[in-house]
Amino acid sequence: MKYIAACFAALFLFGNASAQNKQEAALQAKISGIIKKMTLEEKIAMLHGNALFSSEGVKRLGIPELTCDDGPLGVREEIKRFDWASANWTTDSATFLPNGSAIAATWNPDMAHKYGVVLGEESNARKKIVILSPAFNICRMPLNGRTYEYYSEDPYLNAQLAIQSVKGIQSQHVAACVKHFAANNQEVNRGTINTIVDERTLREIYLPAFKASIQQGNAYTIMSAYNKINGYWCSENDILLNQILKKEWGFKGAVISDWGGTHHTVEAANNGLDIEMGSSGPYDKWYFATPLLEAVKAGKVSEKTINDKVSRILWVMFHTSMSTNHPAGSIGTPAHGKAVYDIAAESIVLLNNEDHLLPLKTSKVKSIAVIGDNATRTFASGGFGAGVKAKYEITALAGIKARFGKTADIKFAQGYKANYKAGNTDAQNAGYDKPDQSLIDEAVTTAKSSEVAILCIGANREYESEGHDRKTLELPFGEMALVKAVTAANPNTIIVVMAGAPYDLNDIKKLNHTIVWSWFNGSEAGNALADVLAGVINPSGKLPFTFPASLHDSPAFALNTYPGENQTTEYKEGILVGYRWYDTKKIDPLYCFGYGLSYTSFAYSGLATDKKVYAPGGKIGISLKLKNTGAVAGKETVQFYVSKVGSSVSRAEKELKAFRKIMVAPGKTNALALNINVNDLAYFNAEQHKWVVEPGEYKLLAASSSKDIKEVVSFRVGK
Ligand code: BGC
Repeated sequence: MKYIAACFAALFLFGNASAQNKQEAALQAKISGIIKKMTLEEKIAMLHGNALFSSEGVKRLGIPELTCDDGPLGVREEIKRFDWASANWTTDSATFLPNGSAIAATWNPDMAHKYGVVLGEESNARKKIVILSPAFNICRMPLNGRTYEYYSEDPYLNAQLAIQSVKGIQSQHVAACVKHFAANNQEVNRGTINTIVDERTLREIYLPAFKASIQQGNAYTIMSAYNKINGYWCSENDILLNQILKKEWGFKGAVISDWGGTHHTVEAANNGLDIEMGSSGPYDKWYFATPLLEAVKAGKVSEKTINDKVSRILWVMFHTSMSTNHPAGSIGTPAHGKAVYDIAAESIVLLNNEDHLLPLKTSKVKSIAVIGDNATRTFASGGFGAGVKAKYEITALAGIKARFGKTADIKFAQGYKANYKAGNTDAQNAGYDKPDQSLIDEAVTTAKSSEVAILCIGANREYESEGHDRKTLELPFGEMALVKAVTAANPNTIIVVMAGAPYDLNDIKKLNHTIVWSWFNGSEAGNALADVLAGVINPSGKLPFTFPASLHDSPAFALNTYPGENQTTEYKEGILVGYRWYDTKKIDPLYCFGYGLSYTSFAYSGLATDKKVYAPGGKIGISLKLKNTGAVAGKETVQFYVSKVGSSVSRAEKELKAFRKIMVAPGKTNALALNINVNDLAYFNAEQHKWVVEPGEYKLLAASSSKDIKEVVSFRVGK
């Protein structure tokens, strides 16, 4: 019986695969037919921007312009064709989606998929073929100005979210553009820096999420990064684009340059770039415009290479704008509002609740002081990063009023001034870190006259921005002085931090205050936050990156490799990025990777593998029991790390290999069953140029965070 079932399964799979192969072959034939009808000039016109966010089509052959727009926070408002100013449309108000680190903090690939579907539907409504999202560069350095856009410091978590974001976007026949390929991990000197990184580190840390988004997510486009890797611009890096991406990974889509990130004609054309994009004309003078035409005529770039590029663009189009059953799309719908609420609600991280101030019972609290500029600030736009003209954005104060306002008196005090503008000189921003005593005094009075104070601090979209890195980990705007004054005035103070990257919370942690971490959390941010505060939502977010106790503990600073010298930064920490570094070097972080509390508690038991010894290529069957030992339902993210005992090569103390987020009812026990592929235990052997699974003993850890290991079992990999 089993045999017959297996035969049917094989027939189905292979049948499907061969049908797909046939379809693919038919598509390639169709594309070749179209290319045969095109002139060289028409082909070249498709390979470079003809405006800020489009490249040419071929009208007479029914090929549309390739239109694109930013993400990742939502579909950017329509701007003028040749200038970044607003086009003043009235139909482009969009859903503001939670930022990348918020999505990562959900530890929930379903949420990444939801994110993708909303973005895809809204891109369609705006007739965009490519949406320049998701962005998931590794969070190597806590000060990176774009940390908020990215996901995580861990390649596995990154990959799982990247795959689903891409699938969600592309389910709507819109092309995802995964970015920035690769090792674009700082904003300082991003357009000139040469990143020196060894192959093992690239393969184990910086490339896996890109590989997964291509091979498992089938991403149609990818954006080359601004920086160089090992001496070659990412937009003309033969190893990265031709050898790894196209040949090894089998990428069929198009490589799009970051805006203004192309540096040469012949090198870029021959080394794998397909489309040059940028920010200003004259468009016919660009590397991939007249100079490319001339290079082809001079025999420096072959017409075969040009045909390959055009073919890739057409392939993208046949899966998107020229696809059959192309969805119409929709924008700013209530369903999208619900989706971003769900994501935001799962992203919020409870960092401390030892005093059990939370959840706040709506029936009991009669007066609340909401304090802090971030309580009334919106985050959909600001700074240099792509923003969204949000159809609406619920601020923290609005959310708290909606949830508690019927039964409690709610007062607001600004508390601090956020005097910082991205793009200003240091002199212009001088004093941004100073407290404002009169605002603090007012806040103290407000806090004293209320039962509870909710202090909304953190960063904003000017302070965390594309184009610059932060200079310190400290909370800006004199916020610590405000925290000290308000918590002294009212011990029932809940500190809500809204930011997209790690900050120094040492003093707040020492004083054992209640801390909730929220993000630039989208259109429904305030409602999701208020529901977490009220216990309508049990918090289940976990940190997607380490919060170091001191900046100097973090690898780039400990090894003095940031921002680099002579336009070069060497990733001397190698594979020891994020918790891999802190664990292996035995450095205690402030908050570790994967950390986050709940209003309930969980007990782990019965961790087991289905065998004691595994062969390479096999599957490790894992089981575990998880009991909700508290009084309310809650979601826990169980993290599975693997550690090689007595490794013959240097390895991190442990590496995340799987995770599962599950809801457990109070008092109930849920069983978890999952697999890890033995091959996923491999390290990249640079000498042999391949992934190697070392035989011997391994430990499997089931954990609630990277430092809270609940259960451990051993297994072996045989030769
Ligand atoms: C950013 C990209 C963005 C592009 C277009 C660049 O500065 O690095 O992420 O997609 O601009 O706005």
